[in-house]
Amino acid sequence: MSGQLDGRVAIVTGSGRGLGRAYAEQLAAAGAAVVVNDIDGETAATVVDAITAAGGQATAVVAPVGSTEVAATLVDAARTRLGRLDIVVSNAGVLRDRVLWKMSDDDFDLVVSTHLRGTFTLGRAAATAMREQGEGGRLILIGSPAGQFGSFGQTNYAAVKAGLVAMARTWSLELARDRITANVVVPTAMTAMTGTIPAYTELYEGFLQGEPLPRSVRREHALGSPEDVAPLVVWLASDAAADVTGQAIGIGGDRLTLYTHPAEAAVEYSDGGWTAELIGETWRTAFEKRRQPSGAVLPSLG
Ligand SMILES: NC(=O)c1ccc[n+]([C@@H]2O[C@H](COP(=O)([O-])OP(=O)(O)OC[C@H]3O[C@@H](n4cnc5c(N)ncnc54)[C@H](O)[C@@H]3O)[C@@H](O)[C@H]2O)c1
Repeated sequence: MSGQLDGRVAIVTGSGRGLGRAYAEQLAAAGAAVVVNDIDGETAATVVDAITAAGGQATAVVAPVGSTEVAATLVDAARTRLGRLDIVVSNAGVLRDRVLWKMSDDDFDLVVSTHLRGTFTLGRAAATAMREQGEGGRLILIGSPAGQFGSFGQTNYAAVKAGLVAMARTWSLELARDRITANVVVPTAMTAMTGTIPAYTELYEGFLQGEPLPRSVRREHALGSPEDVAPLVVWLASDAAADVTGQAIGIGGDRLTLYTHPAEAAVEYSDGGWTAELIGETWRTAFEKRRQPSGAVLPSLG
């Protein structure tokens, strides 16, 4: 893809480390100039230096996404320091995992503010700038399997990640005329975030030591490096994906997944409406065998 994004300008939030860093570096390698955003100034500076040393162009904005003000600062940095804005990757993220009855208001609000509000405020500011520019654009949102399936201990995170898919599908309708696409990447990769999940801690330690991940983990658990995920972001940002919008696409390790739009699994009608008794009867006779699962079903690591 080298050169595919020459002359384009991208904002990647939370790109001081992990997946965001891989997105920023691969977008830059494909020719885009990048606004590297993070709350950690040291990591953001390291990524800017790495991109520059590799012959690319980047600038850092150290600020927490969430507010309208920070969204405006990011868009302004793209336009004034790098000349325009074509691509937004709304990647910044935090976890505050607790079961429902132990989750505090602060746990909930921080996750909502970072992922959902941060994407809303930046998406709105970016769409406004892209519409003014009149040359189309790319809004790339970052989902999670947690948002697709539900996830034990992640009320806040599953809710925002599901919300982001609904946001992208809505934006794909609203921004189609302006040739601005909106898609969700559903990534899985070995990062500091994955390292906090007990089932993956041992694999993560090995990954950090340079041990190769087993093929089954790369395929069935869709787990590889952040660099395995970034090509999907580069492709969605490119002209080759100009007609791809409103999609949720998963990637990780050796696996690439197209997620369905939620669909009606079964439909029944009752002339004149339904009673509770009739609903119960219909549940047993028609719907129960189509009942939907909660949570992702993954093969055991053992
Ligand atoms: N790692 C995975 O397997 C996985 C799976 C599904 C979804 N994701 C999503 O991918 C994204 C990146 O995850 P990661 O695994 O690289 O995590 P990470 O913790 O390694 O990186 C997240 C980065 O975001 C930054 N950040 C946090 N809050 C911020 C804020 N308010 N403003 C700006 N920057 C902020 C952090 O400082 C950090 O550099 C997140 O949205 C996450 O939910 C990751």
